[in-house]
Amino acid sequence: MHSQRIVYVAGPEAHREQAGSAAAAQGLAEPALLQRRGTALGWIAARHRPTTIRAEAVARAWRASQAFLLPGLVQARLAEHRQHIHQALHLAAQVAAGDDPSELLGRFPYRERTEPRFELLAAFQDEGDDQEIETLEYEALGGAGVVAENLWCKVSWLSFEEDDASLRFRFSFGLAGYQDVAADLRRELYAARLCEAIFPESAILSRDPGLQAVLRILLGSERLAYVERIVYFNAPNGGAQFHQDVERGHEGVVFAQIHGRTGWLACAKARLMDEIQGFVGNPGHTEILQELLPDPCGREELARRCADRLLLSDWLEQNDNEPLEMLLNRCPAFCRRLVERGCGHLLEPGDVLLLPQKSLDQCAWHSVFCLDDYPGESLSFAVRELTAD
Ligand SMILES: [Fe+2]
Repeated sequence: MHSQRIVYVAGPEAHREQAGSAAAAQGLAEPALLQRRGTALGWIAARHRPTTIRAEAVARAWRASQAFLLPGLVQARLAEHRQHIHQALHLAAQVAAGDDPSELLGRFPYRERTEPRFELLAAFQDEGDDQEIETLEYEALGGAGVVAENLWCKVSWLSFEEDDASLRFRFSFGLAGYQDVAADLRRELYAARLCEAIFPESAILSRDPGLQAVLRILLGSERLAYVERIVYFNAPNGGAQFHQDVERGHEGVVFAQIHGRTGWLACAKARLMDEIQGFVGNPGHTEILQELLPDPCGREELARRCADRLLLSDWLEQNDNEPLEMLLNRCPAFCRRLVERGCGHLLEPGDVLLLPQKSLDQCAWHSVFCLDDYPGESLSFAVRELTAD
């Protein structure tokens, strides 16, 4: 089922030279370290990179809520957007260095790209969100005046760590976190157009006929839209912890790597629960868990909740689940298990990853790592069917 074979070359304790030698001994290319916010999980390398995409394999993975890599799908489109990508990387670097996003987006080339279709009304910082840098509020203008209100671009850090400069620009509307976004298709589409105006390289995904053809087959619909868009700039030592992106009314997420590389652990929720239960229930892992969770209460809670599939499923969705969060994000042996069972991916510029997100039970969970010593850029768009508005 897996389109790409990733090898766990060496544990995090290995130096670059040791990992490189181990990879070379297996005939593999230079390995990359999965490391995020000071925690290294191991060295990986790709063994097999397919050049063709088999439709039945994509469909099978989508039905099973598994992530699926479409290698090089949009690679040919990168060249025509080279300048846009360069500008976006510069924008992210300026924001990371402390410049106000509203100042930067209020001048060339962004002002010219957004006006007169979008008017920047206000810029503010949500005091309840410590990771936010700035929210920019826009309205969309048409011939008859305002056609969509309270659209926003939210610029945020991906973590609180000083040495993780990862950023994201998220485009949506209304009350963040409370809005039933899919119920307001019109504003979803205007927020998507705002993203396309500020980051024209969005077209690498949104206008790709190959991706549209794949999604038409998967969703059985001719009329699709890319909404709830996020443009990521994952920086060294950054990325995203294990999570899902389920949103009612959306079918899944398409992710395109357009600069730099990212490493991924991704699998269906049911599969992830199998792996968690298999790992925690294995008596051979007692020492590993003692080292990971020195507090016996944390180990007891992990064992108890993992023994019951319903408890585990609920626990995964909670914010306050530290023992489980430690296992998922900070345990090299668990990372190794996932990679060895086909849940690892390595994305290069032009690669697209499909992440089905149908429901809380049928979705691909995923964890992302920056693999380079410089920030990359990626596009992450939700996919939905177009309905009559
Ligand atoms: Fe995600």
